[in-house]
Amino acid sequence: MKVLVVKDMQEGAKKGADVIEKIVRENPECTLGLATGSSPVAMYQELSRRCKEEGLDFSRVHSVNLDEYVGLPGTHEQSYRYFMDSNLFDHINIDKKNTYVAKGTGDVAANLKEFNEVLDKADIAVQVLGVGPDGHLGFNEPGDTLYECAHEETLEDSTIEANKRFFASKEEVPTRALTMGMGNIMKARKLLMIIGGNKEEAAKRLLLSDKIDPHCPATFMRMHRDAVVIIEKALADRIGYQG
Ligand code: GLP
Repeated sequence: MKVLVVKDMQEGAKKGADVIEKIVRENPECTLGLATGSSPVAMYQELSRRCKEEGLDFSRVHSVNLDEYVGLPGTHEQSYRYFMDSNLFDHINIDKKNTYVAKGTGDVAANLKEFNEVLDKADIAVQVLGVGPDGHLGFNEPGDTLYECAHEETLEDSTIEANKRFFASKEEVPTRALTMGMGNIMKARKLLMIIGGNKEEAAKRLLLSDKIDPHCPATFMRMHRDAVVIIEKALADRIGYQG
C-alpha cells in the first residue's frame, strides 16, 4: 500500500486528481468507482477545473458509486445521486446516462439486484474511498462478517452520528443503505483513499497495525495490490505515523 502524506487537503485533492487524470487519459472509456462524503469534494472540484480548463475529457467515461441511502430519492439533497450530480457530474462533460448510483427508493430487492448486475459487468479502474470514523468503507460497517457483493446494511449509531451534520436532525438520517460489498471494492484495479479530519482511530488501524480486521473494514485496503492512501500531515502526525 502506497501512502502519500500531504500538507493539506488541497494538496491531497491535486494528488488524487492526478491519479484519476492519468487513468482517464490512458483509457478514455474507463469506469470510475466514486465515493461521496466530504473527503473527495476538493478532488472533484479539481477534476471539474481540469475538465473545463485543461480539456480532461469525461465524455466516454462511465462511473458507478459505492453506496446510497435507502429511503432517499435522487432528488433529495442528501441522497448520494444528488451529491454526485452537484459535486461532480454537473461540472464535467460526463454523460449522466453513463453514471450509476444505486436507487434509494422503491423495491429494495430489485434495486440491489440491479446494483449487483451493474457491478458484475463493471471493470472499475479506480475506486475512490473515504473512511468512516468506525473504519467503514462505503457503508460496509464493522462486524464479524463482511460481505462480498452489494447488499443492504443497517447503519451503526456512530455512522448516523457522523452523518447527521448533513441533515436537520439525527432522526432524519436514514438508518439503512445499499453499499458495494468488500469483494466489489477489492476487485477494482486500483484503490484511492483520501483521509483527513478526525479519523484517528481508523487511520491508526489502517497505517500503524498489520492486522486485517473486519472490525475495521478499511484495513482490507492493505490486501489490495495497488492501493494508494492520501493522508493529511496533521492527521499523520497526530497518530504518530512516520512513513
Ligand atoms: C459516508 C459514506 C462513506 C464515506 C464516509 C466518510 O458514511 N458512506 O463512503 O467514506 O461517509 O465521509 P467523510 O469523507 O465526510 O468523512
